[in-house]
Amino acid sequence: MDSWFNSSSSPPRPPKGTPGRNSGPLTAVVHTTAALQASINAPTTVLRRNAHLASHQSLSISPISNPASASGSTVSTSSSSKATIPQKTKKSRYTSDSYTIRNGRRYIAGPKCSYPLPCDVAELNRQNLRTVLLTTVYGAPFCAPLVSSKPPKTVLDLGCGTGLWSSTCHDYFSRLGHPDVEFTGLDIVPVAPDLKEQGVNWRFVQHDLRRLQLPFPDESFDMVFLKDMSMAMPTGGSEFPIFEEMLRVLKSGGVIEIWESDATIRALLPQPAIPPSTMDRALQQAITTGTYPLVPGTGFSTAQNTYIQDYNAWVSKALEKRMITLLPCTVLSPMMLQEEKLADCGNRRLVVLLGEVRWEREGVGGRPSGSRRPSESSVGSGSKGKYRQTERAALTDEQSALRSTALLTFVQMIESLEPALKEASQKGQDEWDRWWAGMMTNLFEQKGAMSGEGLEVGSWWARKV
Ligand SMILES: C[S@@+](CC[C@H](N)C(=O)[O-])C[C@H]1O[C@@H](n2cnc3c(N)ncnc32)[C@H](O)[C@@H]1O
Repeated sequence: MDSWFNSSSSPPRPPKGTPGRNSGPLTAVVHTTAALQASINAPTTVLRRNAHLASHQSLSISPISNPASASGSTVSTSSSSKATIPQKTKKSRYTSDSYTIRNGRRYIAGPKCSYPLPCDVAELNRQNLRTVLLTTVYGAPFCAPLVSSKPPKTVLDLGCGTGLWSSTCHDYFSRLGHPDVEFTGLDIVPVAPDLKEQGVNWRFVQHDLRRLQLPFPDESFDMVFLKDMSMAMPTGGSEFPIFEEMLRVLKSGGVIEIWESDATIRALLPQPAIPPSTMDRALQQAITTGTYPLVPGTGFSTAQNTYIQDYNAWVSKALEKRMITLLPCTVLSPMMLQEEKLADCGNRRLVVLLGEVRWEREGVGGRPSGSRRPSESSVGSGSKGKYRQTERAALTDEQSALRSTALLTFVQMIESLEPALKEASQKGQDEWDRWWAGMMTNLFEQKGAMSGEGLEVGSWWARKV
């Protein structure tokens, strides 16, 4: 199918004479994330689910309007048209300068656009993988307790991308006997398939969130959801400028939930025993999934892996230049707590490690290696505090798969941010390609992230009074 959607996955770059992603058959196989995604040794529930995502994405796609045209909002509920590529060689209503192709990836162009991630199939896959990863580690597509006890009737998914979160949420509510929840997805580019074809009560609105006024009346939604949008909204000094608008369109009594991930990577230090009083459902979910709750006082060191250190330095420089907050997770709690219109604020923060960690394997602070798997241990009502979080010497297949997926999405993000990171590193293409090849070998083949390096993710929620 000659669609913008399908043709925009990273096409192979011409071979070069230096080692790197594009330097010939060997590196083309070994050093691309697509190859890794296929070959990664993960007996994985998560990656199997990703196969399902591929079919989710191959559904019909709404027509692609260029991002500039989103300066006026467009509502689309139709499934009849298929995507058309805004090709440079084709005359169409899509102007070719609305996107720019860099290293075979498609980015939104424009002097005022600082969004550093691509809008192409590889990036959409990465975002989908993150959605599956986070839904798995949280145990549901949302964390706000009020949403389970009183499902919403109308939901707004801001910056919806492929709409996978909405469709997952629809499935979740349907299983609870609420198949008619109405979902509205909003994004600057209409890449979400028509979820109506999957039975979702769905409409899509194309809108540029830099135009702060959302195209909805006051108090329109029972739930407003925002996931991984910090790079799309340069702060210009004020964090999450869209926040006020989210509250305006939320009904009184409605729930706001925000999922974010920090851009830089730290290394989690060996974790102390967990007091039995905190052994709640969320903690049990963390133990089952091999993730670590992040609470005040959780100990970190700087990343020990030198490639990750490089990435940290370059991403800091690149995002600061674009006025994008590096650590959105640190600003969300105060922002919500200070807002008078919100009550019942809560959050859940987790570290998803990028692989098996030396101190877990060595049983530092807990059982020695070779001890029982968490699933065989005394977690739960009978544990009476015997369980220590460091008793995780042996990872289950599912836990390994989640970590492989976290690593994969991290490396894919480096690939997605390549133009911005390369500029920040001041490397030429050949030098960058050599760094990339070394990083891939180190992280995937040599399991280089063994010092506790992990994604810091979180969910924040509150009720509008
Ligand atoms: C990192 S993705 C997250 C997508 C989705 N929330 C998810 O988690 O799968 C960011 C999304 O923001 C969209 N975006 C970027 N700039 C935007 C803008 N100015 N207005 C609206 N959406 C924008 C992108 O098209 C992309 O779908």
